[in-house]
Amino acid sequence: MGKNLSITTISLLLVLASTNTQQIFDVKSYGAQPNADITQALTNAWKAACAVAGSKVVISEGAYKLGLVTLLGPCKGAIEFNLQGTLQAPLDVAAFNGKDGWVIFERIDGLTVSGGGVFDGKGQQAWQKNECGEDKNCNLLPINIRFNYITNSIVQDITSKDSKFFHINLLECKKLQFQHVTITAPADSPNTDGIHIEHSSQINITNANIGTGDDCISIGDGTQDITANQVTCGPGHGISIGSLGKYQNEQPVLGIRVTGATLSNTNNGVRIKTWPSSPSGVASDIHFEDVVMNNVANPIIIDQNYCPNNQCSNQSPSKVKISNVSFKKIRGTSSTKEAVSLICSKSVPCQQVVLSNIDLAYKGGGGFATSTCANVQPAVSGTQNPPACTIKV
Ligand SMILES: *[C@@H]1O[C@H](CO)[C@@H](O)[C@H](O)[C@H]1NC(C)=O
Ligand SMILES: *[C@@H]1O[C@H](CO)[C@@H](O)[C@H](O)[C@H]1NC(C)=O
Repeated sequence: MGKNLSITTISLLLVLASTNTQQIFDVKSYGAQPNADITQALTNAWKAACAVAGSKVVISEGAYKLGLVTLLGPCKGAIEFNLQGTLQAPLDVAAFNGKDGWVIFERIDGLTVSGGGVFDGKGQQAWQKNECGEDKNCNLLPINIRFNYITNSIVQDITSKDSKFFHINLLECKKLQFQHVTITAPADSPNTDGIHIEHSSQINITNANIGTGDDCISIGDGTQDITANQVTCGPGHGISIGSLGKYQNEQPVLGIRVTGATLSNTNNGVRIKTWPSSPSGVASDIHFEDVVMNNVANPIIIDQNYCPNNQCSNQSPSKVKISNVSFKKIRGTSSTKEAVSLICSKSVPCQQVVLSNIDLAYKGGGGFATSTCANVQPAVSGTQNPPACTIKV
């Protein structure tokens, strides 16, 4: 008994000791003041925190102006970025000198981003100058939060607001979790994708609430083992794999699971999109399950002729091969008749596509919901409303 107790006491002390050793680096100690620019203060606090093992950078409540910062590792040990206040980006894109990010976390293992605070991208001016709708080689605008080469990390309880371009971008990340992340921007803000993932693996997103002007979550090439659980989207363009096939040497997309999502008033639901005239590529093992659609245009869509604003010249079919894709328990309402549209490539038809328990009602007048299929023969089971492949093209 006595021995057990002492072991318990010792372990408790060890736990306390280890939590106590998290050293605090409050940006105020580095000269930060509310409503002032804290770029230098944050840079200095980060450098100091990164140099010790088990540290926490704190930005307490209040609004602060912040220019472009790169919060660079590797750090001595685990590091937390605790944002309780609101960071405000410069209004003018010129302040970024052509750089494509605002707050950039780079090469960190064991990062925690937390605190309930807001990254306010102040995008209103930049949206008016965005040319990416007309020109696919447009200059990229700053992304609110970039995660480059981040491993074994967690991002929780933060908000990204009114980004000038994508809100959150992952590049070369592994084992990164997002929990309770909120993203907001107006429905008409261009290219304000919520979370974009590429060249990353073992990423999971749970309980995110994303309302924005472009894709809610978009998954680019070179991604594996991505799970999105209980994500709420709307407004925006829905959850999207792709677009794929725009560039040479794209890596496969493998192992994507979207479960328990709710999409409201978005102009797509769950989608896989690839460009025509593409190099070859692979998208496989992609599963959408238990998704509620509220007044969504195109709730289920595979589009291998994706070419917004007719940017494509002499079109040949996409060579991105899509296989092992399932849509299960997808239900609710479609705002267009095209509830299901599976337009696969003539050169590499889709394989192993499953439609199971689809129940999508068209709420407008003038007819019923349709299901269109091209170059695909889905395996169907359970409820099929609309009946699978009512239109074959
Ligand atoms: C999310 O990631 C954590 C840590 O990597 C893991 O324990 C958990 O099982 C993952 N959840 C899902 C749904 O994949
Ligand atoms: C298809 O997806 C299922 C479910 O993720 C997976 O278990 C299976 O290995 C995949 N099959 C192929 C041929 O990739």
